[in-house]
Amino acid sequence: MRVVTTRDELSCARAELGTVGLVPTMGYLHDGHLSLVRAARSANDAVVVSIFVNPTQFGPGEDLASYPRDLDRDLAMLEAEGADLVWTPRVEDVYPPGWSTHVSVGGVTEVLEGARRPGHFDGVATVCKILFGAVRPTRAYVGQKDAQQTVVIRRLVEDLALGLEVCVEPIRREPDGLAMSSRNTYLSPGERAAAPVLHRALVAVEETYAAGRRQASELLGAAHVVLAIEPAVPVEYVSVADPDTLTELDLVDPARGALVSLAARLGRTRLIDNLVLAPV
Ligand code: PAJ
Repeated sequence: MRVVTTRDELSCARAELGTVGLVPTMGYLHDGHLSLVRAARSANDAVVVSIFVNPTQFGPGEDLASYPRDLDRDLAMLEAEGADLVWTPRVEDVYPPGWSTHVSVGGVTEVLEGARRPGHFDGVATVCKILFGAVRPTRAYVGQKDAQQTVVIRRLVEDLALGLEVCVEPIRREPDGLAMSSRNTYLSPGERAAAPVLHRALVAVEETYAAGRRQASELLGAAHVVLAIEPAVPVEYVSVADPDTLTELDLVDPARGALVSLAARLGRTRLIDNLVLAPV
C-alpha cells in the first residue's frame, strides 16, 4: 500500500493503476468506510482511498477543529483491507494558493441537511470534483448513510459529465442499530445508550409502510411515537421525501418508493440516519 500527499505524487502513483475504485473519506475509519473499500476492491483493479477532513464543508461553529483524527490507525485498517493507494493531502494540496473555483449543486441541496447546514453541500461538491479530477477513478464508492450526499454526488457527476460511476453501498450499523459514524465517538455513555432510538423510529416507519399505510402523516406519526419514548434525543426533523428529488411527499407512490430520513442533536453531536422504502 502506498501513501502519498501531493497531487504530483498521486498522479504518478495513479498512472500505474488500471481501473480504480475511489473511496473518499474524512478518516477516523470504521466498518462503514471499510465496507466501501471491500465493494471497491471487488469491482476494480485497484482501490484508492482519500483521507481529508475537508474544511469547506464545515460551517462556522461546526466541529472542524475537533473532528476525530487517527491517521496511523486508519492506515493500518486500510492496509489490512488491501487498499492499494491512500491519498492524505494537506489543505494546500486540495486547495492550492489562489484556488477560487467552487462547485454548487442546486435543487436537491436546498432541503433536509442542506437547509440546516448552509454551504455544506457546496463544500462536499467542490471537494468531490477536485478529488475526482485528481484521482480519475473509474468508480466512486459512497455510503447510503449520507443519503442526501449520495444524491448530490450523483447530480454532480451527471451534470458535469465527470465520466465515472457512483456506487452507493448500504448503511453499516452497530448491533443495537445505531448507524456507524466517526462522530459517534463524541457521544457520552448516556447519549450512546439513547441513540439507537433513531433506528427504531425508522423501523417503525418501515413496518407501518409494510402494513399498507401510504400517507406521509401516518408514516411520520409512527416515527414520532417511538421518538417520544426517548426525550433525551431531541429530533430536528423526520422527513418522507422522493428518493431522487428529495421533495417532501404527502403520499408515497409504491412505484417510486421514498427516502425516510431524520436528524437529531444529542448534546454536541448531530446524528443523521435514514431508510429507503424501496419501490415495488
Ligand atoms: P465520511 O463521513 O468520512 O464518510 C466517507 C464515506 O463513508 C461516505 O460516503 C459515507 O456515506 C460513508 N459512510 C459513513 N458511515 C457509513 C456507514 N455507517 N455505513 C456505510 N457507509 C458509511 O462523507 C464524507 O466523509 C465526506 O463528506 C466526503 C464525501 C469524504 C467529502 O469530504
